[in-house]
Amino acid sequence: MEQFLEKRIALVTGAGPNIGSGIALALAAYGATVACNDIDLDNAEACVARLERNGYRGMALQGDVTVEEEVAANVKEVLDTYGKIDILVNNAALLGGKGVLDETAENFARAVLVSGLGTFLYTKHVARSMCERQIRGSIVCISSSHGWSASPGVVAYAFHKGGVNNFVRAAAMDLAPYGIRVNSYTPTAPTPDNPDLVQKNVPPILSGRGGRIGGGGGDEPWRRPTRFSGDRPPLVPMGTTGTPTDIGHCVAWLCSDYARLITGCDFVVDGGARAKNFSYMPAPMSELLGPLPVVPLE
Ligand SMILES: NC(=O)c1ccc[n+]([C@@H]2O[C@H](COP(=O)([O-])OP(=O)(O)OC[C@H]3O[C@@H](n4cnc5c(N)ncnc54)[C@H](O)[C@@H]3O)[C@@H](O)[C@H]2O)c1
Repeated sequence: MEQFLEKRIALVTGAGPNIGSGIALALAAYGATVACNDIDLDNAEACVARLERNGYRGMALQGDVTVEEEVAANVKEVLDTYGKIDILVNNAALLGGKGVLDETAENFARAVLVSGLGTFLYTKHVARSMCERQIRGSIVCISSSHGWSASPGVVAYAFHKGGVNNFVRAAAMDLAPYGIRVNSYTPTAPTPDNPDLVQKNVPPILSGRGGRIGGGGGDEPWRRPTRFSGDRPPLVPMGTTGTPTDIGHCVAWLCSDYARLITGCDFVVDGGARAKNFSYMPAPMSELLGPLPVVPLE
């Protein structure tokens, strides 16, 4: 693997076993040392253990991205340990949720805080450390396909991911004078490939609040169905939206010097899912040539 992130220090928030861990592993595989934050220390430690299993270095950080003192303390710990931060990936978020008829104020507010305030606080504290040290760093905010289009049952999620998309453009403008780049990456329901999750047979879309995306609805007589109940046709032009490993390769490249002038942009690796017209139903995977095999990281 080309070591284009050699000597770089990265920090990934919400480094749970699915996408956060996949991004951390990729950054490490391309040469970075990775600090892994999570509100749940077990998740952060499992992420570091995965890095170490594969011969890479990292440190675990426990902290809530919505609490400024904890964000500042996590950032200080990385700076005290490694002297700088070159790369920040704002990945922490609460998945799942309910639709506009059913979501609670409490859950809505918490989901928006984790994604919105958390992304802002980490960007602020890490970017200040980059400015002080004249580090022309890279910040990647993890969005979602629901930040660009909608399904029923995810009103808070759609709201805060849409906010992340425009936060990226605003922060990119604020930080451009310092040579710091800010971009988003948009996952599209990747299939988990962390062996820890594959063994547990975790469904493709995990939920921070117990349940698949788009949950909730009552039994009042006026309720109408929000989803087609028949067999779903194939939805992805290339047959698959990929894995966290595919996301990791893209995010790592985006943090490299090759991407030196890319800022305020969004990236997808989704087999054409987002580009597809709503009326087009692709052929089934079994009839396609299919993509190239994934380049494995472990
Ligand atoms: N899984 C998908 O299909 C999918 C699709 C599109 C976008 N995304 C986005 O990708 C990112 C990662 O998704 P995932 O599937 O790995 O989710 P996940 O729920 O497995 O991981 C999220 C992690 O964030 C942590 N977290 C939650 N609140 C936190 C807080 N306040 N402070 C610090 N950490 C906190 C959780 O403990 C968890 O480990 C999220 O931003 C999500 O919105 C995921």
